[in-house]
Amino acid sequence: MPLVTTKEMFEKSMKEHFAIGAFNVNNMEIIQGITDAAASQNSPVILQASSSAIKYARVGYLRKMVEASLEEHDIPVALHLDHGPDFETCKMCIDNGFTSVMIDGSKYDFEENIRLTKQVVDYAHSKGVVVEAELGKLAGIEDDVNVAANDAMYTDPDQAKEFVERTGCDSLAIAIGTSHGAYKFKGEAKLRFDILAKVKEKIPNTPIVLHGASTVIPELVEMCNKYGGQIPGAKGVPDEILHEASLSGVSKINVDTDLRLAMTAEIRKVFAEDPSAFDPRKYLTPARAQIQATVEHKIRDVFGSSNKA
Ligand code: G3H
Ligand code: 13P
Ligand code: ZN
Repeated sequence: MPLVTTKEMFEKSMKEHFAIGAFNVNNMEIIQGITDAAASQNSPVILQASSSAIKYARVGYLRKMVEASLEEHDIPVALHLDHGPDFETCKMCIDNGFTSVMIDGSKYDFEENIRLTKQVVDYAHSKGVVVEAELGKLAGIEDDVNVAANDAMYTDPDQAKEFVERTGCDSLAIAIGTSHGAYKFKGEAKLRFDILAKVKEKIPNTPIVLHGASTVIPELVEMCNKYGGQIPGAKGVPDEILHEASLSGVSKINVDTDLRLAMTAEIRKVFAEDPSAFDPRKYLTPARAQIQATVEHKIRDVFGSSNKA
């Protein structure tokens, strides 16, 4: 089947209480690992590219490699722009066959975020493309200064309703305690499910997106460190919490860091165990297999999207 938008997969996720994994892609091995995993689980999947991923891999390569996966697998696949920084980047992706774009106006004030998001929504909808927007600020570990500052960063449920009504966006990324990267929590991992529940109450028909949702899988961090890496104290969102999110109204769960760890752990292992290796297939084959295993685990054991294709 051709690339799809996220519309139908999100409708199904809200009705049947599961989440769809949105995995960041940068090259062929990552695309193959993810789509092989989704196909083996008969799951819908979202492949997303950031603007730096597009700069790295180039837009035509990304689209055509994703399209190549569709020739092998009969599952719903959406191609999504992650964290679109401006209207021009969103338009470029829409004009290049992406079926979904994110406009990330979270760095702007409420009114400017609405103006920019609406501009992207108007263009995207005229081309049959859907739009994810973001309201609230994802905290970094260093931003965890005090409760008042933190509260100001979380998504306000009343604002979320007004934002969705005024922009017409198709899905909304919210801030409930996650953050990007490998260092999400100093102490215990905790998400504000009370805020998620209030947001769902206000906008029950809008699919909710969770960014910064990697688990920072301890086994992969250990493997990186064992074979010469230096990633001490890394910590993410445990599987149980993500599973709870998938049952509580989160429709899209974003994962990049865990794929980076999966790939790096396996490549480090090959180099450490066989310093004479220099055929890229020697280290990219296990790297791709680890990405597949990691994605299969998330789809099957955490997000609950197996057999929802
Ligand atoms: O949320 C950001 C994603 O992890 C993409 O990161 O901009 O380095 O490609 P990137
Ligand atoms: P992680 O850094 O937790 O993988 O988050 C990825 C993300 O939100 C991409 O938009
Ligand atoms: Zn993100």
